[in-house]
Amino acid sequence: MLIKRMLHAALLLTFFAVLSGVLVAVSFQMTYQQIKANERAYLLRTLNVLIPYQQYDNDLFTDIREVQNEALLGTDEPVMIYRARQAGQPIAAVLTPVAPDGYNGHIRLLVGINYEGILIGVRVLSHKETPGLGDNIDMRRSNWILGFNGRSLIHPDESGWKVKRDGGIFDQFTSATITARAVVKALHNTLLFFKQSRDEIFAD
Ligand SMILES: Cc1cc2nc3c(=O)[nH]c(=O)nc-3n(C[C@H](O)[C@H](O)[C@H](O)COP(=O)(O)O)c2cc1C
Repeated sequence: MLIKRMLHAALLLTFFAVLSGVLVAVSFQMTYQQIKANERAYLLRTLNVLIPYQQYDNDLFTDIREVQNEALLGTDEPVMIYRARQAGQPIAAVLTPVAPDGYNGHIRLLVGINYEGILIGVRVLSHKETPGLGDNIDMRRSNWILGFNGRSLIHPDESGWKVKRDGGIFDQFTSATITARAVVKALHNTLLFFKQSRDEIFAD
C-alpha cells in the first residue's frame, strides 16, 4: 500500500516537472519569436528612414547580400547588407554589423552608407547596455547616434575616429565611455569594410 502511494506521488511529481519544463520552453520560444518579429518590424521601418524611398527604385528588402568579416564587422556570423539602386546604379547600402565590445556584450547596428562612403544614418538594432548609462546610443533615449551622419573615413581622418576621452572627436557619455567607444570603433571598421568591399557588395 505504502509503495503504491509512493509510486503515485513520484509519478505525479514527474508529471508536473515535465509539464513545467514544457511550459518554460514554450514561453521562451514565444518570447524569442516575438523579439525577433519586433526587431524585423523595426528594421524594415528604419531602412526607409536611412534611405528615403524616393532615392531608390529597387526592392530594398529583397536586394540583399550576406557577407562575413569578423575583424571588421564584429561577428563570425553572416552580416546582412541591403542594397539601394536607382535605374540599376548603386546608390547606398545598409549594413548590419555588430559592436562586439559593448559594456554588456554585443550591440547590433544598422549602418547606412552611400556609394561615396559617407554615413547617411546609423541606428541601434539591439543592445543590452545599462538603462540611464549606455542606452543613450538608442534614438529612443538620445540623439547621440545622429552625430555620425555625414561622417566618412576622411571626415574625420583616422585619428579623429575615437571618443573625445581618447583624443577623437565623438562625445562619450558620462560614466559610460565603454559603450560609446564600442560604437565609434564599430562604425569606423564598417566604413573600412565598405571601402575595401564596395565593388563586391554591389556586384550582381
Ligand atoms: C552597474 C553598472 C552598469 C554600468 N553600465 C555601463 C554601460 O552600460 N556602459 C558603459 O560604458 N559603462 C557602464 N558602466 C561603467 C563602466 O564600468 C565604466 O566605469 C565606464 O564605462 C567608464 O566610463 P567613464 O570613464 O566615463 O566613467 C557601468 C557600471 C556599473 C557599476
